Amino acid sequence: MIVILVGPPGAGKGTQCKKLVEQFDMKHLSSGDIFRSEIAGKTDLGQKAKQHIDKGELVPDELVIDMMISAVKNADYNCILDGFPRTLPQAEQLDKALEKENTKIDAVIELAVNDETVVQRISKRRVCPDCGAVYHLETMPPMQDGICDKCGSKIIQRDDDKREVVLERLETYHKMTEPIISHYKDASAAYIEIDGSQRPEAITNDIAQRLKEA
Ligand code: AP5
Repeated sequence: MIVILVGPPGAGKGTQCKKLVEQFDMKHLSSGDIFRSEIAGKTDLGQKAKQHIDKGELVPDELVIDMMISAVKNADYNCILDGFPRTLPQAEQLDKALEKENTKIDAVIELAVNDETVVQRISKRRVCPDCGAVYHLETMPPMQDGICDKCGSKIIQRDDDKREVVLERLETYHKMTEPIISHYKDASAAYIEIDGSQRPEAITNDIAQRLKEA
């Protein structure tokens, strides 16, 4: 099964994917996590991606498309995609690659959240640089202040979570990523809109229910 989770920055895509892979036997593929790991490893790709990520811009398509299509292939076409595709060319190239393999996207889930909620969520997000766990200082705080529940590392704020970068990321989302929603509404995959303003558990239940029906 191939599922795409789309939504603005801070909509809760990563949070939901981590819960969904516990229920469905799928691999979680996050383009943002891949770039963050490349940046941490100081690779060439990481250095190139960082220049764009730090400004709230998208990483150029040519650095994203092959990387993510290979990841989908390595997952045996059984994955939930978080953060990819994010532009029309990325969506079209993914469609083509899947067509060649006689496979297709099963469902596209839009997590609908307004800009105000996004800014509120991201401003209080903290992440673990070592294991990738995600927290929110109010709604999902760690048990011990500033320390990751899962691995005990010190949690931090992402560099691209500064307010001015978040506003830029939101603008980029509306301009570059929203058009892929109409692309998928016109395609044969099931398009599912979920109210992303609910509590995380309610969102997971809604998505799981709709995926079982898809
Ligand atoms: P990426 O890491 O994909 O960032 P994003 O899409 O902006 O999404 P986020 O990770 O910020 O948020 P999320 O939706 O996962 O929310 P989360 O679950 O953490 O990409 C980073 C950058 O990489 C991009 O800006 C771009 O430059 C580049 N990039 C990546 N993919 C690319 C591509 N395909 N093409 C080009 N460039 C690409 O939740 C947010 C917060 O809210 C957390 O604190 C969480 O605890 C809390 N929260 C979650 N759900 C709820 C809820 N229901 N109620 C209350 N709080 C909640």
